Amino acid sequence: MKKILDLISEEVTKAFTACGYDAKYGKVTLSNRPDLCEYQCNGAMAAAKEYKKAPFMIADEVAEKLSGNKMFSMVESVKPGFLNLKLDNVYLACYLVQMQEDEGKFGCEMPQKPKTIIVDYGGANVAKPLHVGHLRSAIIGESIKRIGKFMGHNMIGDVHLGDWGLQMGLIIVELKERKPELVYFDENYTGEYPAEAPFTISELEEIYPTASKKSKEDEAYRDAAMQATNELQHGRRGYQALLGHILNVSVTDLKKNYDNLNVSFELWKGESDAQPYIPAMVQKMKDDGFAYMSDGALVVDVKEETDAKEIPPCIILKSDGASLYSTTDLATIVWRMQDYNPDGMIYLTDKRQELHFIQVFRCARKTGLVNADTELKHIGFGTMNGKDGKPFKTRDGGVMRLEYLLDEINEEMLKKITENQKTKENLGISEEEAKATAKTVALAAIKYGDLSNQASKDYIFDIDRFTSFEGNTGPYILYTIVRIKSILNKYYGLGKNVQGAVIEAAHSESEKNLMLELSKFNAMMENAFEETAPHKVCSYIYDLANAFNSFYHGNKIMAEEDEKIQKSYIRLLELTKAVLEVCIDVLGFSAPERM
Ligand code: ARG
Repeated sequence: MKKILDLISEEVTKAFTACGYDAKYGKVTLSNRPDLCEYQCNGAMAAAKEYKKAPFMIADEVAEKLSGNKMFSMVESVKPGFLNLKLDNVYLACYLVQMQEDEGKFGCEMPQKPKTIIVDYGGANVAKPLHVGHLRSAIIGESIKRIGKFMGHNMIGDVHLGDWGLQMGLIIVELKERKPELVYFDENYTGEYPAEAPFTISELEEIYPTASKKSKEDEAYRDAAMQATNELQHGRRGYQALLGHILNVSVTDLKKNYDNLNVSFELWKGESDAQPYIPAMVQKMKDDGFAYMSDGALVVDVKEETDAKEIPPCIILKSDGASLYSTTDLATIVWRMQDYNPDGMIYLTDKRQELHFIQVFRCARKTGLVNADTELKHIGFGTMNGKDGKPFKTRDGGVMRLEYLLDEINEEMLKKITENQKTKENLGISEEEAKATAKTVALAAIKYGDLSNQASKDYIFDIDRFTSFEGNTGPYILYTIVRIKSILNKYYGLGKNVQGAVIEAAHSESEKNLMLELSKFNAMMENAFEETAPHKVCSYIYDLANAFNSFYHGNKIMAEEDEKIQKSYIRLLELTKAVLEVCIDVLGFSAPERM
């Protein structure tokens, strides 16, 4: 379905050309004076220069041409030369009827040639607990992936585990201290290794921080860890087997955590999967003359003339021949191109990694790892701060673990829902339902609280605000959906039906406003996809929920006596609910039945 703004622009453009003016002046935008009109065209102001005429004369002519046009209920030329427009109510209703018929997509056109896009997000590090720093990557990445899927593209999420670093050596060394008798440490052992891991997830999570602390205090310990890492990376059998166990135990736990966040990945690849691609990649960079030795390290220059600040060379191998984070990311691009030949790759990390990605992307392009038109995009997000404006911490000042944070918000939400039950809306919700609902609403609170900010900005994680049922919050959106569900349940509960009924021309101003909001859906979604901007979905549903709630407060839906009007209301409610639900689904959360 064409976007409503395009349809309007087409019509206005026709009027401009019919009056002898260039088509480019017919562009229509949303009104910035909603008190005066719904849409506006400022083309006459610009045309005035070219045609050496007063702008209002041009606007008058075009308005005259448009008078009687079925698309508009008002076309007004106002001085000094604006065209103010209002959409005709019947026209708008027809647009929504078509939207409603386009079930599932609600007017969004699917691409002729879907793109394949890999979204690299999550980025958890194996054996280290997930902390709130990983939360944003998971939440934003999941939403970007879902928006792309909804828009008909082939989106592939890859968690890109951090499974290739010193943390592995640290765990091995610590484990060796505790259980030296384990067969993994016996270099002469040639048999099969046990299938069962020699540790549980809680042990593993305790082992890493202990080892990390020791390595900072004890140089010999640190050297041993580096040595173990090195041996692991060079294929020592027992260590490889341990790595397998660490991965298994960790990934099982990670999946559980991501599940709780309603986040899932198509690919569970890690840094270690890129390692086999490094030697050939490096050789080729050398052969092609891109990589050269500088201060003992192998580097590729990536600076460009237009750079405002110095972009240092991308280091491919350190002087001891070891690979780095950038090497791994480059080799990851190699296998992704080989296996998926994607049209684009989108990476989500903290914005402090910006320089890293500039270097990696430039290097990949320069050395031909990607095609000229492969899009590489890094979305660097800001920090999640506490109310004190400092990076979010636990009450005792430690790094907050994701699970604890979720627990805390679940509890807060459960309290609110239970209170709500006692005070105003005794719906007879059982404790069990209240718990499940609290979880659903809590997730919406966290995700909406995060996604409603532009990703690159820091934001303040404010539990009280995020969990509020009022204002620009996840719970408010859910509350609106639940309100619609409850009206629909009441209506259908009476044995009524809407057979043959469609959305009619608006009967009131608040109804029209709601309809205007709904008609913006396809344009908004397309824009959110193109700009990888989930916050646009959030601000849209906030406006839509507000428009619905004013309609709800201004009209008696269940008490409407004219059945035909009531049916049309119900159809409108159904469309509103469906659109809100699609939106929260791409944001990665869902609504309960009641709350
Ligand atoms: N594991 C990394 C971290 O915790 C994030 C990985 C991001 N993805 C990437 N391809 N570099 O910072």
